[in-house]
Formats: sequence, structure tokens, C-alpha cells
Amino acid sequence: MRTLPIAAALAALVFVVAPRPVPAAAPAADGAALFARCAACHTATGKGVPGAYPPLGTDFRKLAAKPQGRRYLALVVSKGVMGALTVEGKPYRGVMPALTALDAAGVAAVLNHVGTRIATSGPAFKPFNAAEIEAARASGVSLTAADVAKLHATVGGG
Ligand code: HEC
Repeated sequence: MRTLPIAAALAALVFVVAPRPVPAAAPAADGAALFARCAACHTATGKGVPGAYPPLGTDFRKLAAKPQGRRYLALVVSKGVMGALTVEGKPYRGVMPALTALDAAGVAAVLNHVGTRIATSGPAFKPFNAAEIEAARASGVSLTAADVAKLHATVGGG
């Protein structure tokens, strides 16, 4: 029987090339694609809606230039934010839900997209990596979205 080994070889080949399930947010997370979720509220340009959705601009880059501000940004996406904030001189008192579907690599990718393509004014932007997001999350497990809002002013947001 010569066909059996061939069939077995074909089966093995199919096993090798068959697509495998990809985890929800693979390491090569696409920040530009993920930003579509943010754009639903903050708008595609990140200018936001005064009084409702804050801009992702100078305040973002100022926060991203400081260790505690970077922790805050990681927590905003991971835990959500709810409460009074003043961003670029305008008051907000809204609710941003936590984007719990994003893993650390996804949060890093979307923050990097914002820091390089959306928020283009302010201090130089240093990219996030997944390890930094993991550390921020670990340090903030007990924080609520309301606690995250209170962090804003203390880490130099405004
Ligand atoms: C459902 C609407 C909604 C979505 C989706 C959303 N946000 Fe928000 N975001 C808000 C609101 C509302 C606030 C202000 C909350 C408040 O007033 O406490 C906010 C605040 C923020 C802040 C704080 C701004 C500052 O200068 O301190 C950042 C950063 C932010 N969002 C980033 C993101 C990113 C990145 C995404 C996508 C991964 C995202 N948001 C998705 C509604 C949203």
C-alpha cells in the first residue's frame, strides 16, 4: 500500500498549515485598528467633544512624559475613568468604561498609536511596552474608575 504513507504525509501537512486560533489580542496588536474603539467617543482625530469626551492631545503627551502619568494612562484604559477631570482647561465629568478585552500588548499598542499619531503636540513621546502596562495594572488592581479620575490632577494632568 503506497497510498497510506502519502495520506499520512498529507494529513501531517494539513496539520502544519491549518490556521490556528489566534489569541484575542496577539503580541502584534494593531494600535491603529484598536483606536477605532477609542474614536467612537474621542473622535477619529482625537479632538474629542468639549464637555463630553476629552481630547487626546497635549494633556496625553504631558502625562506620558512622567512615570506616574504613564501609570495613569495605562489605568485609564485598563480600569476606566469616572469623575471630575479638567483636560486642557475644560471640565469633564463623564464615564469611560474599562476596555477589559485588551491585553497588556493591546493597551500598549493603542496608547502608542495615540502618542504618535493622534496626540501630536506636547513633550516628546516615549513608547509603552506590555511589561510597563502589566506593572501599572498590578499596581492598580484595587483601584476603581473613580480612583483613576482622582489620580489625574495628582499626576500633573490638566
Ligand atoms: C464610551 C466612550 C469612550 C471610549 C470608547 C473611550 N473613552 Fe476615553 N474617555 C471617555 C470619557 C467620557 C472620558 C472622561 C471621563 C471623566 O470625565 O472622568 C475619557 C477619558 C480618557 C482619557 C483621560 C484624558 C486625560 O487627559 O486625562 C484618556 C487618556 C482616554 N480616555 C483614552 C482612551 C483610549 C486610548 C480609548 C480607546 C482604547 C478610549 N479612551 C475609549 C470616553 C471614552
